[in-house]
Amino acid sequence: MAPVELKEDLYWVGAVDWRIRDFHGYSTKKGSTYNAFLAMDEKITLFDTVKKPFLSDYLHNIRRITDPAKIDYLIVNHVEMDHSGWLPEGGGLVKPEKIFCSAMGKKAMVDHFHMEDWPYEVVKTGDTIRLGRRSVQFIETRMLHWPDSMFSYIPEDRLLISSDAFGQHWATTERFDDEVDVSELFMHAAKYYGNILLLYSPLVQKLLQSVGEMGIALDMIAPDHGLIWRSHPGKILEAYDRWSRQETKPKALIVYDTMWHSTEMMAKAILDGLVQEGISCQLLDLQGNHRSDVMTEALDAKALIFGSSTLNNGMLPRVADMLCYMKGLRPANRIGGAFGSYGWSGEAVKQIQAVLEEAKFQIVDPGISVKYVPAHEDLRKCIEWGRKIGRAVRETQ
Ligand code: FEO
Repeated sequence: MAPVELKEDLYWVGAVDWRIRDFHGYSTKKGSTYNAFLAMDEKITLFDTVKKPFLSDYLHNIRRITDPAKIDYLIVNHVEMDHSGWLPEGGGLVKPEKIFCSAMGKKAMVDHFHMEDWPYEVVKTGDTIRLGRRSVQFIETRMLHWPDSMFSYIPEDRLLISSDAFGQHWATTERFDDEVDVSELFMHAAKYYGNILLLYSPLVQKLLQSVGEMGIALDMIAPDHGLIWRSHPGKILEAYDRWSRQETKPKALIVYDTMWHSTEMMAKAILDGLVQEGISCQLLDLQGNHRSDVMTEALDAKALIFGSSTLNNGMLPRVADMLCYMKGLRPANRIGGAFGSYGWSGEAVKQIQAVLEEAKFQIVDPGISVKYVPAHEDLRKCIEWGRKIGRAVRETQ
């Protein structure tokens, strides 16, 4: 994809990854982009780089604007390999006079690339450098989502280069938020938040507050993945505020795997009970729903209910995978529940409930189990169990 001018003499020069389908466990069904930016000023400056396989795409884009050897400064907002994998080879061609990064960014680059003698220039929150017509202010965003992460803010352009924050994994030919379907854009942004940033929500709240106090004027937010926010920067900031408060709706997910459809029969009856209490509910079979799509839906769901048959004295492997993934992302203030069928031992329900308790979910009623195949009376109990959870959800709203 050719460079695109964001602001006068400031260009997107990144790469579009149409093929990626898995981002360490996150399903990137529509690919991604690795955004990087080039400011043509007295000091020609690159903001971030790209993943290693995109070395030539990136160099080609830079060469459409300038000779890479003329680049003076490189700003590394984040060292994860999707934004720095280009560095060992590409950095040798650019040979920047200075590489600006946070203190943790320098450590991370040394640990990744083992180059002690690169021209690192460590910056911290509040530091400003002059490029010429424009300046760059740095804002450290430690643990959002790595220790090294930081933002670069250009006040003259009212532009925030926000690294992973506000990003989306979505490969497109368009570069700006107003060139795509906004509801799909926010779905991708929500998926990104739910699968990458949810566990850091308390830090996101603090960051939003401190950015507010700094009085930063913004008319564009340029993340390192996906579309650039030029028409809806306020809306994505509002969404981050809402998501990081872990605000939920009267909505329940029933997430399950099943061996011979008995657990599935229970899932449907529990759904009936929830719906009778006016709760919006989704049935998410883990044979057909990816863990990262479940987390997207979980972002605003008050109740997360998990079902599994018992297999080999434990839960089914897809349910174990889902619970491990979800627990790491730390959804808070949720109501939980466990259910499932069994043949003779029936450990799965207790194991699921133990995970939910460890994750500090509110357990409204102990898990519900059925031997082999549910009879009509068992399904009636599942409906009642669903209604009880539904009433608890309503009481919290
Ligand atoms: Fe897009 Fe944390 O890397």
